[in-house]
Amino acid sequence: MTGLFITLEGPEGAGKSTNREYLAQRLRDHGLDVVLTREPGGTPLAERIRELLLTPADEPMGSDTELLLMFAARAQHLAEVIRPALKRGAVVLCDRFTDATYAYQGGGRGLSFQRIEQLETFVQGDMRPDLTLIFDLPVEIGLSRAAARGRLDRFEQEGLGFFEAVRSAYLDRARQVPQRYRVIDAGQSLPMVQRALDALLPELLERALG
Ligand SMILES: Nc1ncnc2c1ncn2[C@@H]1O[C@H](COP(=O)(O)OP(=O)(O)OP(=O)(O)O)[C@@H](O)[C@H]1O
Ligand SMILES: [Mg+2]
Repeated sequence: MTGLFITLEGPEGAGKSTNREYLAQRLRDHGLDVVLTREPGGTPLAERIRELLLTPADEPMGSDTELLLMFAARAQHLAEVIRPALKRGAVVLCDRFTDATYAYQGGGRGLSFQRIEQLETFVQGDMRPDLTLIFDLPVEIGLSRAAARGRLDRFEQEGLGFFEAVRSAYLDRARQVPQRYRVIDAGQSLPMVQRALDALLPELLERALG
């Protein structure tokens, strides 16, 4: 058994967390062992790194520091949670992964994609998600959903330009490797988004039960 590694991507307020629960339930209905997790975070140590990354602070965080902390948390998460779960044949549904690093630290912060690729290889070897669902929606809608939740984290405090760059970086990646990505129109109502996920379900089940 090799498991199935599915990542959920997209900007703030796109509905990743909401739909991760929905998708997990659909897969469990079919008897699958599903592990829900998220980045940055997913282990106690990686969640402490998440706090460093998300909490606004007086000292500005350098972009390289941010990038390295993301991959430090990822190394821990891979070793403690993702690889062991895949090894026992589980479906891992992960809320954000390395595509978010390309989108936020690459697209948003302007770090070189090549640099990110080097760290990706260093931390992951040739390990990549089997499938990545990108929840895509107009930036303003995502930000207003996130703002309705309350206090803004360090990323949510960025401006529209930052999030436009994040969105384009995600869509560029989906265009470059269409086999790995499914772009979901997340600006629709929740029932419509879930209908789009239902449409993906046969493919997911086939790959998970393969
Ligand atoms: N299709 C939708 N239509 C309207 N509201 C939605 C939709 N999907 C999610 N929401 C609501 O928008 C808010 C953000 O959703 P959610 O937390 O799932 O997004 P997220 O992608 O996980 O965001 P973040 O990256 O900030 O964690 C929640 O209050 C959720 O109920
Ligand atoms: Mg979320």
